[in-house]
Amino acid sequence: MGRRKGGNKSLAPGDSQKSSSSNSLHDAATGTSIGGGEEVDEVIEERTESSNLENPPQSLALSSSDQTSADYYFDSYSHFGIHEEMLKDVVRTKTYQNVIYQNTFLFKNKVVLDVGAGTGILSFFCAKAGAKHVYAIECSHMADMAKEIVQANGFSNVITVLKGKVEEIELPVTCIDVIISEWMGYFLLFENMLNTVLYARDKWLINDGIVLPDKASLYLTAIEDAEYKEDKIEFWNDVYGFDMSCIRKQAMMEPLVDTVDQNQIVTNCQLLKTMNISKMAPGDASFTAPFKLVAERNDYIHALVAYFDVSFTKCHKMMGFSTGPRSKATHWKQTVLYLEDVLTICEGEALVGSMTVEPNKKNPRDVDIMLKYSLNGQHCQVSRTQHYKMR
Ligand SMILES: C[S@@+](CC[C@H](N)C(=O)[O-])C[C@H]1O[C@@H](n2cnc3c(N)ncnc32)[C@H](O)[C@@H]1O
Repeated sequence: MGRRKGGNKSLAPGDSQKSSSSNSLHDAATGTSIGGGEEVDEVIEERTESSNLENPPQSLALSSSDQTSADYYFDSYSHFGIHEEMLKDVVRTKTYQNVIYQNTFLFKNKVVLDVGAGTGILSFFCAKAGAKHVYAIECSHMADMAKEIVQANGFSNVITVLKGKVEEIELPVTCIDVIISEWMGYFLLFENMLNTVLYARDKWLINDGIVLPDKASLYLTAIEDAEYKEDKIEFWNDVYGFDMSCIRKQAMMEPLVDTVDQNQIVTNCQLLKTMNISKMAPGDASFTAPFKLVAERNDYIHALVAYFDVSFTKCHKMMGFSTGPRSKATHWKQTVLYLEDVLTICEGEALVGSMTVEPNKKNPRDVDIMLKYSLNGQHCQVSRTQHYKMR
């Protein structure tokens, strides 16, 4: 399937390159016609190690600036790499651009707040759509770049970049008409930036002001995924003859961010939760939602898959995008939660249960997920609770 372990938006830059390069090493190793003897495997491993020493991963190499790799890790949005990935996600960026350019009535002469502005791209779209003024708040060092970009493009009179946390910054105005933000993390809620948008909404947005996007929905489906579960999870049961299944337990608990082929989908897709960003309370991002996934064919189920849609309902005609496996891929990919059991399901049978989602108490940027599921089928009767942690 060619899946690779997705990083997350707050990983150190270069991690995604590390993932793909280690995959290609792995592919190269498994793809060779060498007979798989232990000696040969060891030679390959040695070569891998020495090539790693010659070319340290980008995230461990110090840049020409005086930042250390630790600085990069904890302030990953300061590096251009992550912004490059987001800007090049055309589903994401073009949707925002189309929403703004095709609905200039929402922006004309309005005071706009760009929450988490990054390079300032959304601020530029809003300024071009006729905003009276755009305040672009960005807490990472990318704010310095954004200031330069604003100047270089001649927008200094319309866009003001403010470096700092939304929760700590003083705005030069007391109220704003529009909030624009791209806050969505993996599994929608990873990184917990939604709370920052809600904070800005409650502090500065006028009564009939608008938040863009204003709707986000989380969905769940079930997939057949024998090959990849074997490779990523069962692998730990027997590693060169050693039982490393304690790591399997950890691997099971970490949802995998990756692309899923739509042909793997075995059941319907169930809406879990819709959030109205204009009205919701911060606590509404913690929830328990029931699900009923009905098999559309006889197959095995190895994992549940979560993905989200966002909508801009205040446009002339509703606009938005989906990160689902049947839609054009985005950098959010999908989130795969492997099941302990391999479920044998017949067409028409239902996997029922509930999913509980909440920010981790110690580190609210992480997400804790509890999955309860049961199947009472012809070939398989199972009932189980599993816990996952996105970090
Ligand atoms: C997903 S990026 C989007 C960047 C940009 N708006 C775009 O669409 O390309 C989110 C940005 O929000 C910033 N951010 C996250 N939390 C923030 C906070 N509490 N205050 C200010 N900026 C924040 C991050 O540093 C990051 O650059």
